[in-house]
Amino acid sequence: MKEDKATHSATWKSPSNLAIVKYWGKKDFQEPVNPSVSFSLSRAYTKTTVSLAQKKGSGFTFYLDNREEPGFRPRIQKFLDHVRARVPLIGNHHINIFSTNTFPHSSGIASSASAMSALVLCLADLQQQVSGRHHLNIREVSALARMGSGSAARSVYGGWSIWGRIPEIPESSDHYAIHFPDEIHPVFKTLHDDILIVSGQTKKVSSSAGHTLMNDHPYREGRIIQARENTLKLIRSLKQGNMDDFIEVTENEALSLHGLMMSSMPSYTLLHPNSLRIIREISDFREATGLPVTFSLDAGPNIHLLYPHHIEEEIIAWEKRQLQTFCEDGCIIRDRVGSGPEKIIDTEG
Ligand code: DP6
Repeated sequence: MKEDKATHSATWKSPSNLAIVKYWGKKDFQEPVNPSVSFSLSRAYTKTTVSLAQKKGSGFTFYLDNREEPGFRPRIQKFLDHVRARVPLIGNHHINIFSTNTFPHSSGIASSASAMSALVLCLADLQQQVSGRHHLNIREVSALARMGSGSAARSVYGGWSIWGRIPEIPESSDHYAIHFPDEIHPVFKTLHDDILIVSGQTKKVSSSAGHTLMNDHPYREGRIIQARENTLKLIRSLKQGNMDDFIEVTENEALSLHGLMMSSMPSYTLLHPNSLRIIREISDFREATGLPVTFSLDAGPNIHLLYPHHIEEEIIAWEKRQLQTFCEDGCIIRDRVGSGPEKIIDTEG
């Protein structure tokens, strides 16, 4: 596996992220039909090493957890073809990619966001090593990550970020994500995200297929308006620390995403009966205690339980008492807002 002596290598870890306002539907090449807002996770990340081999010609090998994974090849190949013009080393080097995730596959954590952003960070780093001058700035890196997976565009930042053009945010763009432009209220800088694994089964309909179903969706125009309004309301609440508005937007977005799936043609649902039971428990608990706890959903049945740091103890006790029983093998992954990608310096020489 390591017969080709590496000339250059780079290692990066890059997080997955959770969107509060969801990217759902595409236009042109990997551009979103609506803005999305997310935060990067702390513990859920991909660590990737890319090395350039002295083999003649281009091409690549891909290892996930030390095993060659042919299933991922077509997507990586397509991605490399798309970014070749911006990362010329792809055309004249053989690339070895070694990746590991800190979270289980199919855990409801978006692995394409962390995987594609980690890969792009390595390639950008290597391009600079090879050419000595070709420095890609963070927005260019985000734009390249977007070509691998839309949500990956947001993973190149720590904390909160926005992807998709919205006139009220002058720097926003459909081509790349930007770091949240204003100061975030402390309560949202340390937000917790406990991922309640209702089912670890591979989903029946991929996100990419779901995006495509938005092209002729009867609610498409309404969805675009809704996402813009929710984005503005979320931005305000993140700045002001307004939990009530945050909860309103977060749940509206999560349930709208699944509502759009249910009203697609053909229609489908990724929800599990236990997803709904947990949602009911959350709303009952909030009503009974007044504690600011809410939920989000990705394109899957698992619940992202969101709450501020200062109520961690009460929430964990309640999770164990009331919620864990609805999780597959009692599985809960505890995460929170993270600080973004990191370059790993090789100390083995
Ligand atoms: C529901 O980024 O996975 O998680 O661009 O086809 O790779 P591709 O789709 P992907 O879609 C993510 C959809 C989502 C919402 C979000 O992360 O904004």
